[in-house]
Amino acid sequence: MTLYRIADLYSCAGGAGWGYARTGRLKPTGYDIVDRPRYPLDFVQADAVETLKRIIAGDIVVDAIHASPPCQKRCSLTRGTNAHLADRYSDFYPETRELMEATGLPGVIENPSARPDVVLCGEMFGLGVIRHRNFELVNWTTDFNYKRDHKKHRGRVRGYRHGEWFDGPYVAAYGNGGGKASVQEMQDAMGIHWTDVREELTEAIPPAFTHWIGGRLVEHLDATTLEVAA
Ligand SMILES: C[S@@+](CC[C@H](N)C(=O)[O-])C[C@H]1O[C@@H](n2cnc3c(N)ncnc32)[C@H](O)[C@@H]1O
Repeated sequence: MTLYRIADLYSCAGGAGWGYARTGRLKPTGYDIVDRPRYPLDFVQADAVETLKRIIAGDIVVDAIHASPPCQKRCSLTRGTNAHLADRYSDFYPETRELMEATGLPGVIENPSARPDVVLCGEMFGLGVIRHRNFELVNWTTDFNYKRDHKKHRGRVRGYRHGEWFDGPYVAAYGNGGGKASVQEMQDAMGIHWTDVREELTEAIPPAFTHWIGGRLVEHLDATTLEVAA
């Protein structure tokens, strides 16, 4: 069986990468501008945009690409009272998407600005976090329907909101204080036990999400490989 190589761009500590690896058919290499010694697979410290240019030039050979460009510019933490922070962060999404399209390879972009071709949340996988995430599929497609595939949440996210305490089956896996999750609670809720760095856990995509998308990606890669071979 073919093992497909996938570049995991903006990898951080590899929440997304680990989910792809769990398919048993995808071999991720993480690329991050910051050294990430806890990344659990092959890792290269490198700029994602430069890496995409090297893929286009044929210097790096892969079968598929995942990218999680930093989302601070648009995420909820930089809306409202924190909106003035937005300009401090770059928006890597447009250039990343353009370059990924230019590779011609099947790709997945996870970012709040991404076209929501697939929208996943923790409840769909029985996790202890909600963490809705948009995934845009580049140069391929799969069947997904939010109304049909999304699961009703079992309750609320545990923590304080506007001074009032709410209990619930999900933890708030971001920030500090106000009943937010401890490091161990974040690890358990997302199924990520190879890092205990709060920032890395806060940034991570639960591996269950990319395990699901990776399965669809493998079906696509198998189908297109067969087409080429025929
Ligand atoms: C949202 S996190 C990715 C989370 C990751 N997908 C996961 O599931 O664990 C974004 C990452 O992009 C990295 N980053 C920021 N600018 C970058 C650049 N120019 N090239 C590569 N990585 C970059 C940050 O260091 C951070 O680790």
